[in-house]
Amino acid sequence: MSLAADILARGGVVAIPTETVYGLGADAANPDAVRRVFAIKGRPANHPVIVHLSGVDDLPYWSRQVPRAAYLLAERYWPGPLTLVLERASRVPDAVTGGQDTVAVRAPAHPLTLDLLRRFGGGIAAPSANRFGRVSPTTAEHVRVDLGDEVDLVLDGGPCRIGLESTILALVGARPMLLRPGDIGLEALSAVLGEEIALPASVRIRAPGALAAHYAPRTPLELLSAEALPVRLVQLLDDGRSPACLALGTAPPLPPEVPCLVLPADAAAYGARLYAALRELDGAGADRILAATPPDTPAWLAIKDRLSRAARGSGA
Ligand code: TXA
Ligand code: MG
Repeated sequence: MSLAADILARGGVVAIPTETVYGLGADAANPDAVRRVFAIKGRPANHPVIVHLSGVDDLPYWSRQVPRAAYLLAERYWPGPLTLVLERASRVPDAVTGGQDTVAVRAPAHPLTLDLLRRFGGGIAAPSANRFGRVSPTTAEHVRVDLGDEVDLVLDGGPCRIGLESTILALVGARPMLLRPGDIGLEALSAVLGEEIALPASVRIRAPGALAAHYAPRTPLELLSAEALPVRLVQLLDDGRSPACLALGTAPPLPPEVPCLVLPADAAAYGARLYAALRELDGAGADRILAATPPDTPAWLAIKDRLSRAARGSGA
C-alpha cells in the first residue's frame, strides 16, 4: 500500500477499488497527473472528475463553502456511494473541475482505498477506470483488460459490492439536484435533508455521465419488455442474426445457441452484476443484446438509467 501511495506522490496513476466501480486515480493536487488519467481514458480534458477523500474532515480543504446539507449527508453516508458537488476551493486545479466553479467529492467505502487515502494524505482524483464511454470496470481484471499496460499499478480489491457508479447530488443551487442516480435513492436523500430533491432533466448538460453514448457495450443493445423479448429474438434469428439475451429473474424460452445471462430479480444483486454481464455478452459473438426492462420502481432507477444509456449509446 505504501507503494501505491509513493506512485501517487510521484505523479503516477493507480487503479483503485471502490464499492461502486474501479477508479483510475491520480494526485488531485497535481494537474499533470490528472491530465495523464484523462489521456489514458481517452476522455476530453474539460470533463470534471470526482475527488476521493478519506472522510468528512477533508471537506473544507476542497470546498470554500461547505453547506450544512453536505455535512448532514456526508455524516450519514460516508464512506459510501454518494458524490457531492460543492463550490470549489481556489486551490482545486482546473484539470480536476474542468474549469467549473464546482468540485465533486466523495469518500469511497473500500478498506484498501481508504487505507491508501490515509497513507497518501491528499485527495485522489479518479474517474471510472474504463475507456471513455465504455462500461465501467467492476473487477481488477476488467481494468487490466481495458487499460492494464498504461496504469502504473492496479490495486486488486476484489469485485465491487455495488457495481454501479455513485449517486451524484449537486448542493450549489437553490435546491439540491440529482445529477446521476445511484445506489442511494432520492427518498433517502430528501429524508436526511428534509427537503425535496430536484430531478436531472434540467441539469443534464454539464455531466458527461449524462451523455447519450455513455455506459455502452460495443454490441448494440435493445431494451424490451419480458413479453416482447422472445418475439424479437425469434424475429432476429429468422433474419439470420445472432442475438444474445440479458434476462431478469427467469430465462425466456430460447434455442440453445443463443447466449443468455439471467440476472437476479433483486435490484441490488442485479446492479452488482450488470456491468460484468454486459462485458461477457459483448464477448459472446452476438450482433445484438436484447435486455429485459426492469420494473418501474425507485429501487431500479439507477439500473434503468444505465440500461437506457447503453441502449442509446451502444455499438459506437
Ligand atoms: O462511483 C463513482 O462515482 C466512480 C468511482 C470511481 O468513485 N467514479 C465515477 O467517475 O463514476 P466518472 O468520472 O466516471 O463519473 C463522474 C461523474 C461524471 O459524469 C462527471 O461529469 C461528474 O461526475 N462530475 C464530476 N465533477 C463534477 C462537477 N464539478 N459538477 C458536475 N458533475 C461533475
Ligand atoms: Mg465513468
